[in-house]
Amino acid sequence: MEPTTETKQATSKVTTKLDTLTITDNRTGKAYEIPIENGTVKAIDLRQIKTDAEDFGIMTYDPAFMNTASCKSNITFIDGDKGILRYRGYPIEQLAERCTYLEVAHLVIFGELPNKMQLEEWTKNITFHTFVHENIKKFMDGFHYDAHPMGMFVSTVAALSTFYPTAKQIDDPEERKMTIYRLIGKVPTLAAFAYRHSIGMPYVYPDNDLGYAANFLSMMFKVAEMKFEANPILAKALDVLFILHADHEQNCSANAMRSIGSSHVDPYSAMAGAAAALYGPLHGGANEEVLRMLDLIGSKDKVPAFIKEVKDGKGRLMGFGHRIYKNYDPRASIIKKLADQVFEVTGRNPKLDIALELERIALQDDYFVKRKLYPNVDFYSGLIYQAMKFPVDLFPVLFAIGRTSGWLSQWQEMLLDPEQKIARPRQVYLGHDKREVPMLSQRS
Ligand code: CMC
Repeated sequence: MEPTTETKQATSKVTTKLDTLTITDNRTGKAYEIPIENGTVKAIDLRQIKTDAEDFGIMTYDPAFMNTASCKSNITFIDGDKGILRYRGYPIEQLAERCTYLEVAHLVIFGELPNKMQLEEWTKNITFHTFVHENIKKFMDGFHYDAHPMGMFVSTVAALSTFYPTAKQIDDPEERKMTIYRLIGKVPTLAAFAYRHSIGMPYVYPDNDLGYAANFLSMMFKVAEMKFEANPILAKALDVLFILHADHEQNCSANAMRSIGSSHVDPYSAMAGAAAALYGPLHGGANEEVLRMLDLIGSKDKVPAFIKEVKDGKGRLMGFGHRIYKNYDPRASIIKKLADQVFEVTGRNPKLDIALELERIALQDDYFVKRKLYPNVDFYSGLIYQAMKFPVDLFPVLFAIGRTSGWLSQWQEMLLDPEQKIARPRQVYLGHDKREVPMLSQRS
């Protein structure tokens, strides 16, 4: 395939412009001028750099996408060195303080905060879709009593694709909108049903008089009361946590959503894949691992010994470090403040002392300082969830509820981007050259 852009090959002198990159191939002595756009060069532009006509041309090699932009996006801005996170230009701190999760979900997906009328319409549509088909309950009943809720969540999100076959019509904006309503409306229901199944309690149907977070708390914790009334501080805290998790640009699960969605599969299947990516302990599963780690440490005085083990390479300090944030994670700062409000209602989580001690020691330790490892969003969120009586294995599911708006937004942006195609990376093949297949009797 030939380069797609108007790159120029120059064999003699190259005129240097500010917006180009000059590359000299020392194998041939040829120089190439490659356009720079938005601080990037197109990997495909390197393909023209060949030793001879037979040569495939140069590719980039970038395992784990350490320095590769896979898309152009207008959704989320992060400056990892300065600790900045913005959705559609709005600072996360202001969104957490002034908006509800549903307002932020609208912003992330449609690009603007809703006005009063739009918010009413949006809320009505989401609320209308909180119920799930009765067969979903039967589907959930099939899981073992100790099934991990994230496994149940991933599977039931995938199963939704069989209930809504027209969602396959991804080119139809109305179908996409219906999927958006349905998924944002239903994910709290699926999460709560997974929990109720695991404790053998009857499923609680959505209460559409309640707000998004309050309804979720009702589906989780309602027992015999006519109406479950969540503590407003806790409902607000949960709503803020959903906001903080709504999107985070090209993270592992957003990349999975885009990559799977690029095959033009239906969005439920794509989102099941994204949720599966989130489940991993290096991504959204980290909040669960933080709590297990704090349990393992047991008490504040054991923190130095634990830190030493981490430095000796015997495991990681979960909830620390981030691929992008090399200063602090602004979400962690908001959560730390939120924790105080929650603990005033629930009582202090005794593990907070261990967490604070871990943070204090790690932030002074050369190992962590040199590697720019700071608390991330997952370090304190688990302590809040636990204080609110969420079981530890539900933590990644809580992350997934908030992130649903981000996944859908990334998916839709990918679909509408004329530069996107099916995601299909190249590889550097280092295996055997062609060889003959020996008969079974000849194999040693
Ligand atoms: N504890 C101890 N050492 C660490 C940690 C940690 N949490 N994170 C990174 N390092 C070290 C790592 O060993 C390496 O050291 P060296 O250079 O000596 O080999 C160096 O720091 C760079 O690490 P990396 O693995 O190359 O960094 P990465 O950008 O690939 O990984 C990360 C980012 C988040 C996967 C990693 O920091 C990590 O595993 N953290 C713990 C898991 C966690 O909290 N994940 C949640 C991320 S935030 C929520 C989300 O968006 O999903």
